[in-house]
Amino acid sequence: MKDLFDKIYKDKGPLGKWADQAEGYFVFPKLEGPISNRMKFRGKDVITWSVNDYLGLANNPEVRKVDAEAAAEYGSAYPMGARMMSGHTSLHERLQDELASFVHKQSAYLLNFGYQGMVSTIDALVSKADVIVYDVDAHACIIDGVRLHLGQRFTYKHNDMESIEKNLQRATKIAEQTGGGILLISEGVFGMRGEQGKLKEIVELKKKYNFRLFVDDAHGFGTLGKTGAGAGEEQGIQDEIDVYFATFAKAMASTGAFIAADKEIIDYLKYNLRSQMFAKSLQMQLVIGALKRLEMLRTMPELKNKLWENVNALQNGLKDRGFDIGTTQSCVTPVYLKGSIPEAMALVKDLRENYGVFCSIVVYPVIPKGLILLRMIPTASHTLQDVEETLDAFSAIRERLENGTYKRISASVSAAMAGK
Ligand SMILES: Cc1ncc(COP(=O)(O)O)c(C=O)c1O
Repeated sequence: MKDLFDKIYKDKGPLGKWADQAEGYFVFPKLEGPISNRMKFRGKDVITWSVNDYLGLANNPEVRKVDAEAAAEYGSAYPMGARMMSGHTSLHERLQDELASFVHKQSAYLLNFGYQGMVSTIDALVSKADVIVYDVDAHACIIDGVRLHLGQRFTYKHNDMESIEKNLQRATKIAEQTGGGILLISEGVFGMRGEQGKLKEIVELKKKYNFRLFVDDAHGFGTLGKTGAGAGEEQGIQDEIDVYFATFAKAMASTGAFIAADKEIIDYLKYNLRSQMFAKSLQMQLVIGALKRLEMLRTMPELKNKLWENVNALQNGLKDRGFDIGTTQSCVTPVYLKGSIPEAMALVKDLRENYGVFCSIVVYPVIPKGLILLRMIPTASHTLQDVEETLDAFSAIRERLENGTYKRISASVSAAMAGK
């Protein structure tokens, strides 16, 4: 018999196997200093394009003050216990009411983390007889929630209406046999490529098929829609989203999350959501901090306007210079270039060291072989100067990619390593 750890000693996993070359630089980099448009990386100032602080609230003085005062008043212990037992307060309730009204739903319930809350919500919404239909590009928290499901599940091709309909037909057949229902799960905004889920078209299918729609709007909440209520509001179908989910980890620059739906559905989830029944309640400091952030989302439209000024300047500037930014319909700004993984590493190093621009890279197997994806997150704290400097840097690195500079650099690094 094998030792359980044998496989771990031999294979560090699809990402872990790159650790020797990538750790500390391409993965687990240490960005230092206050969270803002410019931070420090290895002692150098860099324009930061990889922090999901959409509205620039992370280091807002008023937000910091409220966070600090709440921590001083309550510490990090309060309230002790799970919501149902001893971890419930009026402030938790108030935050839920305000969140529900912000996303135009009857009721809301807090989750400690988006990831864990999403897994648990899927688990609570379906039973064995039900069928789940979901986008193949769904976030890991959706995939992991679906993994808990004991019944049937189908993935559809990313945002592909024909595939959605085909899978709804398959799901309908099965649900008719098992006596269950159908849960369709999409993201409001797909976080890698920035496309919005085709919620409007999906909702149209409700006329033909009997299903409930659950939307993970992590990137749409606070950034899309007239009032910031997200992708559903942007597409004019917020009322048709049966269960709405968003995290505090992006536009709210905090920790925590929530689901919102009709009161009867939330009342059910309150009593059946295992991540909240069997885990300690959201800390007071996070609840009070979220109330402050939500007030700012409601009363300071200038934050979202500034965010979009930067998004438009960056996305239009990239397009004007001939960059391929795919089909984004949100703040998430992907830049696709052609090159190998070693070229991508040399390019990103150049960008960081010589141009002071920090963004994340995504390579195969997350995207097809031979493509490099530089993923940029504009925020309200960026300036138009940041955008201009970044556009110039991108033009320069593209030239060096195309004239073979990074190929030569990566070849000489490999040769030096081989000779060592
Ligand atoms: C689409 C999506 N859903 C859920 C989550 C998880 O949220 P949290 O960070 O609050 O766990 C994320 C990432 O933060 C996300 O991008």
